[in-house]
Amino acid sequence: MTGVSTVVVPAGGLGTRFLPATKALPKEMVPVGDRPAIQWGLEEAVASGIRRAVIITAPGKDLIKAHFSPDPELEAILVGRGSPELADRIHRIGRMCELEFVEQQQPLGLGHAVLCAADRLGGEEAVAVLLPDDLFWGTPPLLAQLIRAYTRERCTVLALRRCPRDQISRYGVAAVEGEGPVFHVSDVVEKPTPDEAPSDLALMGRYVLTQDVFRALSTTAPGALGEIQLTDAIRAVAGAGKVVGVEFTGDLLDVGTLDSWLATNAAIVWRDPDLGPALRSRIEELESTGE
Ligand code: UTP
Repeated sequence: MTGVSTVVVPAGGLGTRFLPATKALPKEMVPVGDRPAIQWGLEEAVASGIRRAVIITAPGKDLIKAHFSPDPELEAILVGRGSPELADRIHRIGRMCELEFVEQQQPLGLGHAVLCAADRLGGEEAVAVLLPDDLFWGTPPLLAQLIRAYTRERCTVLALRRCPRDQISRYGVAAVEGEGPVFHVSDVVEKPTPDEAPSDLALMGRYVLTQDVFRALSTTAPGALGEIQLTDAIRAVAGAGKVVGVEFTGDLLDVGTLDSWLATNAAIVWRDPDLGPALRSRIEELESTGE
């Protein structure tokens, strides 16, 4: 028994860094390889032992729910056309785990999005949070690495990755004690300058959050942009209680901007036994013709 059976998947943001692609298409629905980014996220969660997902959407982001809804007509057409395996894959998309959807009425920040799930969580001691615009590639799944730390430590767990100093100001950064790979986190600083950063360990888009983070979130005041920051609530808990961070193994690939999405697609397709050779020969062709 892991003690963590639910994941909250915040997908209510505006995706402004990937406009105009994300004007009507939710950022979480951009395809990576042969499936939308959010499906990769749910597959990771299920492979980590998660049995229920609460997906936070927003007005106008109905495509996310549509993707996970049953589509018996499509399945019947695929079977009729001699593609029963594809029909079976489609059948399983919405049945990976129990799914619930909650609408965040305004994009008031990641902390607010997570808080939107609070009344769906009942008495669970801890829940996982997975940001679907970061795809994990590796074994064991990233969320499983965090859940394993949670079962030992019984406190909030953060995913940490070493980051070059000149890029650190894009992230929340942990002040840590100990040797790792599981660190005690004494503080978290949101988007510090390289000089102010307490370490080179940046927070990535996976968490296990205990109830005290939800209590802190419900009293966290909105910051500069009117947004409620998850980092502020974690910071409050790190100061008063216990938070650990795991320097995880494996790759985390972002899809939140055009550049990162292109690079992520290339990385995933490159490793695919069917698609990889086709991509490589196309690149060779482009290089040789100088197109
Ligand atoms: P991001 O900050 O990367 O997403 O949040 P964003 O705000 O949609 O993107 P930009 O910065 O405008 O380009 C990480 C995750 O948190 C969700 C996003 O949907 C994304 O999956 N999120 C963010 C919410 O659910 N609600 C919010 O208010 C903000």
